[in-house]
Amino acid sequence: MLGRMLLWASERKRVERFLTQGRLTSPVVERFVAGARLDDAIEAIRRLNEDGIGGILDLLGEGVTDPAGAAQAFDEYLESIKRIDETGIDTTVAIKLTQLGLAFDKGQCIDYVRRLGAEAQAIGTYVEIDMEQSAYVDDTLDVYRLLKADFDDLRLAMQAYLRRTPVDLEAMSDLRPKVRLVKGAYAEPEEIALQKRKEIDNQFRFITEWLFDRGDDPGIATHDSRLILYARAAALERNLDRTSFEIQMLYGVRHDLQRELAREGHRVRCYVPFGSAWYPYLMRRLAERPANLRFFLRAVVGR
Ligand code: FDA
Repeated sequence: MLGRMLLWASERKRVERFLTQGRLTSPVVERFVAGARLDDAIEAIRRLNEDGIGGILDLLGEGVTDPAGAAQAFDEYLESIKRIDETGIDTTVAIKLTQLGLAFDKGQCIDYVRRLGAEAQAIGTYVEIDMEQSAYVDDTLDVYRLLKADFDDLRLAMQAYLRRTPVDLEAMSDLRPKVRLVKGAYAEPEEIALQKRKEIDNQFRFITEWLFDRGDDPGIATHDSRLILYARAAALERNLDRTSFEIQMLYGVRHDLQRELAREGHRVRCYVPFGSAWYPYLMRRLAERPANLRFFLRAVVGR
């Protein structure tokens, strides 16, 4: 219940203005966000690399409503890729298509992603497309299908909670899609998304198997140890070793487990967000674990 309220609040601009006033306000924000500046994220990833963990660099921001906002996000992504090259850190680049104008100019958005894909490829890394609210799934799948032809290593997030996901994957099987499998982080109605944890976990397991059989380099993005063990067993069953899939987690969540898995020889990447537009991202993290809310509210009230 509280989780759903937080997801509702994550999409409300007025609540955002009240709570944030655009600043990094509390230790809770700092826990989940590397910092306001690109260099903060670069430094966080450098430290992760020392522990054998790769990065997934994420410029915060989504739901951009005008061309200038999308152009600015594109420029910031370009700058990020340039800095990755200069610093030599091991990281991929996560993008949100609504940040690049998907909601109002799909053609321009595709052009931006194509250019970012080329820049990333030129420095030896690749782009990962996040999956957002269900209203954007069709367009996001279109963009992926179109650009996968140019960039074979493009990765796409797919959400286990969506009832449609197994069908979408089946329709993409000719591509051998390179997927980041997540449970799903948005408030979606029951007709669209599974609501019960057990059902979501079962669908997650089913898709994990599918990705080993029909996908390319499965990305298992969860902090749920049981689902990570499940992926490990699925690999073993196919006589594949632990490097046959990638484990992905979020900055600030179960860092010890990330390190332990990397030490055991797993390929681990950590999603590292930076920037000032942290509000919806943080609200989704709090919805996953309302216990963190207490610290956040204390910081807001006490500021
Ligand atoms: P679950 O929430 O069931 O947690 C399992 C265990 O992990 C908990 O019991 C707890 O121990 C720990 N844990 C989880 N969250 C925590 C937190 N916030 N604080 C502290 N402990 C926590 N979603 C989406 O819709 N589109 C996307 O593109 C992405 N991208 C993405 C990338 C990566 C790398 C990750 C890891 C996740 C995403 N997500 C996402 C988010 C995803 O959909 C999901 O909401 C979260 O990962 C939480 O689900 P878990 O699978 O971790 O399980």
